[in-house]
Amino acid sequence: MCGIVGGIAERNLVPILLEGLKRLEYRGYDSSGVAVLDSENTIQRVRALGKIKSLEAKIAEAEHPLSGQIGIAHTRWATHGVPAENNAHPHICNNQVAVVHNGIIENYQSLKKHQLTEGYRFTSDTDTEVVAHCVHEQLKSSQTLLEAVQKAITHFEGAYALGVVSVEYPNTLIAARKGSPLVIGVGIGEHFIASDVSALLPVTQSFIFLEEGDVAEITRESVNVYDVNGHQVAREIKQSSLTMHSVDLGEHRHYMHKEIFEQPQAVIDTLEGRITQNHMLVSAFGHDAEAIFQTVRQVQIIACGTSYHAGLVAKYWFEDIIGLPCQVEVASEYRYRNPVLLDHTLFVTISQSGETADTLAALQQIKALKGDKTIATLSICNVPESSLTRESDLTFLTHAGPEIGVASTKAFTTQLVALSLLVTALGKALHLMSETQERKIIHGLQKLPGLLQKALTHENDIKAIAQGFADKESALFLGRGTMYPIAMEGALKLKEISYIHAEAYPAGELKHGPLALIDEHIPVIAIAPHDDLLEKLKSNLQEVKARGGQMIVFEDEQADVDSQGNMKVVKATTNVGRITAPITFNVPLQLLSYHVALIKGTDVDQPRNLAKSVTVE
Ligand code: G6P
Repeated sequence: MCGIVGGIAERNLVPILLEGLKRLEYRGYDSSGVAVLDSENTIQRVRALGKIKSLEAKIAEAEHPLSGQIGIAHTRWATHGVPAENNAHPHICNNQVAVVHNGIIENYQSLKKHQLTEGYRFTSDTDTEVVAHCVHEQLKSSQTLLEAVQKAITHFEGAYALGVVSVEYPNTLIAARKGSPLVIGVGIGEHFIASDVSALLPVTQSFIFLEEGDVAEITRESVNVYDVNGHQVAREIKQSSLTMHSVDLGEHRHYMHKEIFEQPQAVIDTLEGRITQNHMLVSAFGHDAEAIFQTVRQVQIIACGTSYHAGLVAKYWFEDIIGLPCQVEVASEYRYRNPVLLDHTLFVTISQSGETADTLAALQQIKALKGDKTIATLSICNVPESSLTRESDLTFLTHAGPEIGVASTKAFTTQLVALSLLVTALGKALHLMSETQERKIIHGLQKLPGLLQKALTHENDIKAIAQGFADKESALFLGRGTMYPIAMEGALKLKEISYIHAEAYPAGELKHGPLALIDEHIPVIAIAPHDDLLEKLKSNLQEVKARGGQMIVFEDEQADVDSQGNMKVVKATTNVGRITAPITFNVPLQLLSYHVALIKGTDVDQPRNLAKSVTVE
């Protein structure tokens, strides 16, 4: 989703802005642009459709080199108006004000109507252009650019992160946020803004995380932050533990590949400090957690995309292992219906980014509706200081490290680790789990990095299977129990990065519809763990085989699925437990999608039309 970079310094900012945009590419975008105030105090802007390299090429071809010590830049992910150069940001008003925006100004049409009567002209179809005009209009009656922006934002409904510069105030950069993320990078004699810290790691590791409604007045020497009521507030400067190399590609061709192979380490990092060597859970959810957990009678999980699939796996665990009722729902549905909040519910939001607009809105809705009910909120998130973590009572940070590939892989794995620890923590607090069970789960998690490592060794077999896939238009994924949500995740991965239509079905539902699809043109991928449902699954596979379906089965070594005829079997793992099985079987499905996408030549890390962090509805 849209990315913002900006800054004010003594040096030429153009290379820093372009590097920052490249570091935000992973968020997903269709066009980009940069605007600086040059030495003559004129706004110079370059925009381009497509990848940042098109923008760089345009800048390189320009007659006068683009240079400036204050500037803003943007990657756009189209919401209002098609991807096109005239819709790309920055948007400029009367050559005096330039803005970049992430989010949606929902009332832009009424603002536009008013601005047209005031004589403003529009050159784009975006909602953002009204922001530039509005700031320009407010400047007429303001003493500072800060004041103009503060007045302008009172007119906006919706979500925004903004970067604003003006020729009238060439030594001031204004940043504002409501509903979309924005951080300030603190340097020596220079300051920066960006949608996330990764964009600014080459220039600083010190950050101020703006809060909801904050507006910041930024100069070379100072950063003054004002809260939603206009009062100046002190916001702490925090040090990021990330370095510029933590987001480097290394020896891998794609971030997705790198991140798939980082999963064993991501699990080790997520478990560190949360379990003991003798297989016990230590306080993993914070000091207040135990008292809160003792009040819980049911769990409601809310998330989107891959994070939603993690929640679906956990539902099986909660009900099967500790007998605690658990519901799971996608955030975009939950937030727009009238949910009945049950007393003594633990609401768990799961999000890699912690900025997904629907998940955040669902959390805010729960807080607004809870009244005097005993309700607590917990977020499972990969990004410290994200909006979700700041708004939840409890937070569990997955330590997956930065995830750049749009298709989530290692974040999912660590979310499942977090959820298994949550099952254990609730089981203990509510006396629903024995010490023996606890030791068994934790011991299983300690073996997980090794199991994932082993699953990764099947890459070559999977590569070969992928060859038979690239010309297919559709695929069906089957699983039972926790393997059903894993099948859903496998289908999602294939759709996301290879653009092949894929559906997941619980294997038992096959004969209620999807069996009609089966012929030699549709590959069917099944997951066969060595569990109580294996024999039933084998019968389902026979149903497919009998109809000429092309089957690919990822099985436990002990499952012994008959591999004759049109059935390819990969012995993906062995000795996996109830918790480690879904996490391990997910790995071959990730590799399958990756290698199919490679053969198809799609953009693996930045698939068309998708964004990493969906900060608009
Ligand atoms: C987007 C991403 C997915 C991700 C989903 C939820 O759709 O492309 O990979 O699963 O958002 O994101 P979150 O950050 O909330 O986990």
